[in-house]
Amino acid sequence: MDLQVTQIPLALYIHIPWCVKKCPYCDFNSHELPIDHQLSMYDDYVDALLTDARTQMMLTQGRQISSIFIGGGTPSLLPIDQYQRLFDGLRDCFEFMPDIEITMEANPGTLEHAPFAEYLKVGINRLSIGVQSFADDKLQALGRIHDPVQAISAIKAARAAGFNRVNVDLMHGLPQQTLTEALYDIQTAHNAGATHISWYQLTIEPNTVFYRNQPILPDEDNLADIEQAGQTLLEQLGYHNYEVSAWAGASDSPCRHNVNYWQFGDYLAIGAGAHGKVTISKKQGHKIDVIEPKISGLADASSHNEQVTKTGIYRFSKTRAPKDYTRYQVAPKTIWQAIDQDELVSEFMLNALRLHSGVSTYLFEARTGLSIDAIAGEIKGLVSSGLLEDTDDKIQPTPLGQRYLNQILRAFL
Ligand SMILES: C[S@@+](CC[C@H](N)C(=O)[O-])C[C@H]1O[C@@H](n2cnc3c(N)ncnc32)[C@H](O)[C@@H]1O
Ligand code: SF4
Repeated sequence: MDLQVTQIPLALYIHIPWCVKKCPYCDFNSHELPIDHQLSMYDDYVDALLTDARTQMMLTQGRQISSIFIGGGTPSLLPIDQYQRLFDGLRDCFEFMPDIEITMEANPGTLEHAPFAEYLKVGINRLSIGVQSFADDKLQALGRIHDPVQAISAIKAARAAGFNRVNVDLMHGLPQQTLTEALYDIQTAHNAGATHISWYQLTIEPNTVFYRNQPILPDEDNLADIEQAGQTLLEQLGYHNYEVSAWAGASDSPCRHNVNYWQFGDYLAIGAGAHGKVTISKKQGHKIDVIEPKISGLADASSHNEQVTKTGIYRFSKTRAPKDYTRYQVAPKTIWQAIDQDELVSEFMLNALRLHSGVSTYLFEARTGLSIDAIAGEIKGLVSSGLLEDTDDKIQPTPLGQRYLNQILRAFL
């Protein structure tokens, strides 16, 4: 089956890798700002982002960009004039859809850097504010640099400045958190004006301070109570649960950028440690130049071109350390990896089954190039175990399946 690349939406992820302080639970590619950092660091980084973008122009294969997500790290640390320069440069590289969604993550402790209206002016039309909790003791336990008052005023200021789409990130299952405290966080985010809530359960990730020094977390029963009561409250407040942790409010819609990930769409990626995914079509006959970087100061490094010419689906990732990322003269180093046929099914399902609306047969075939018949046996088995529903042209996790998503995913490994 040939993949029709022009039918696959294309997004762009931009990574801003710095934070004022590293949170003890965080395993993202985020680095504390160097104490002696200068404004020129942001200049160099935006230069590198634009160089990176130029090397990915041919990967669009004629498509417009449907959404951009600026994540981190703490993107609200980047000065507003750098955003202006970044977006001017990006518009020279890519065509944006007229109704493009552009989200920026913001941390309430860093928002003095620009009034919200300035972000609107450069084209950012959705904000995702990392609040985590509105309780002082929880924020301190999480090592956050903001307090509840700053968090509430950040959400209100964003709405007052004209942002109609404001996501608030909350975490639950926090150290010694009670049910009442978890529900208070949801209610407060709603009252402050959140149009979308991402409600994550705190997970203890390897390579974090919390992993080495585990805090006391609510036990399984308390966690289940928080989960159940939180979902009920979110529903009562008019939020619609479209993905495991994502809730869109009555006036808002699902995050287009994240839905594109879960629907196995394509995405370009620029920035330290950023990951992208692209489909290369035989019909398009594109030859993709992969420009390997020239490393400044290394005598033996030479620049050479390789070509990703085969039809297929590829993942790529960028140099992780911010210093190394800005060091390359030609383009930041990219590691390419083809997703082979065996991985395709599990990769697709890993993403798509997070969506409560399920997966259409059309989407599976259009994004993977495989026939749905290839997984007919697995689907039948999961339907008979009560984990999946198979109706018309769509498979969907049942409520039981939503609770045991990992079991469904194992069937496709
Ligand atoms: C990429 S992070 C960055 C957002 C922003 N830097 C901030 O922290 O305000 C996006 C969100 O992931 C969630 N998150 C990060 N680490 C987590 C963890 N270990 N468990 C659950 N959620 C986590 C937090 O809600 C966070 O706001
Ligand atoms: S501010 Fe966000 S990205 Fe930075 S360390 Fe904390 S959770 Fe991670």
